[in-house]
Amino acid sequence: MLERSVVQEIQGILEERDIETKLRLTTRLCADSAKLGTAVFRYPGKADQPLGAVRPGRPESWQVVDPSTIPDRPKLGDPRGRYRLIHSVANIELAAIELMLMAVADFPGEPQEYYQAMLQVAREEVMHTRMLMRRLKQLGGEFGSEPVHLGLWETAIRWDDLPGRLGVVPRILEARGLDVSDRLRDQLGKAGDHESAEVLERIYYEEIGHVGVGTTWYRAACELRGLDPEAHFVDLVHRFQPRRAGPRRIDREGRIAAGFTERELLALEGRDEEPEGERADS
Ligand SMILES: [Fe+2]
Ligand SMILES: [Fe+2]
Repeated sequence: MLERSVVQEIQGILEERDIETKLRLTTRLCADSAKLGTAVFRYPGKADQPLGAVRPGRPESWQVVDPSTIPDRPKLGDPRGRYRLIHSVANIELAAIELMLMAVADFPGEPQEYYQAMLQVAREEVMHTRMLMRRLKQLGGEFGSEPVHLGLWETAIRWDDLPGRLGVVPRILEARGLDVSDRLRDQLGKAGDHESAEVLERIYYEEIGHVGVGTTWYRAACELRGLDPEAHFVDLVHRFQPRRAGPRRIDREGRIAAGFTERELLALEGRDEEPEGERADS
């Protein structure tokens, strides 16, 4: 059955260990989907198993580690640190491809435009991954030379409802890239690595678009289910970063362009009012 084959194809791509094959199959699926009719995505249910059970494949030679064991701030003043940064962004982009495919296969019965939008983003994530792989080669290395993790996937699968998944994946996890981008580009520029800075800049502008797509479909999913999109999002934010964690610096400009409201921005910054009843004693 055609409908089922799309889900199965996505499972195959997620499980694929070879990165080049994974990227090629994703591009083909996205290109095909643009030509196919609405029926393709109107599948009646999930394939044999929930996708959360499908662990994304990585080459056997790669070292897949617990995300907490990866030191998160490489020193960008030295070439090794810059290489590690590009490698970690490549890991995020690769994960982003898989998260977009999961956003298609995990949620049957959505409007066809939803699936097209997710696959269009997946297609751009393939390009981002390729740009970073190219940069790693130029720097004398190769994707997979550093330890990688599946932290984004591990977080995403905890949300199996569409408002939760879209609130968390594009609007919290993916949007964090916007918040750190300008600082990283500055530091790379100061260190004289203008090529890497340019790659991150191009990715930055496309990521605003991705997060914006996430916002559009997040709101639609909430409204369809009778949820207040703002209140629900603020709730999700508090689960990721409790108010007591203190104020955070975010990319207001980029996030406003991606559709965040003032109330959402304040929650992300840790500057929103805490309701009386929730206030902690300590
Ligand atoms: Fe990306
Ligand atoms: Fe993205």
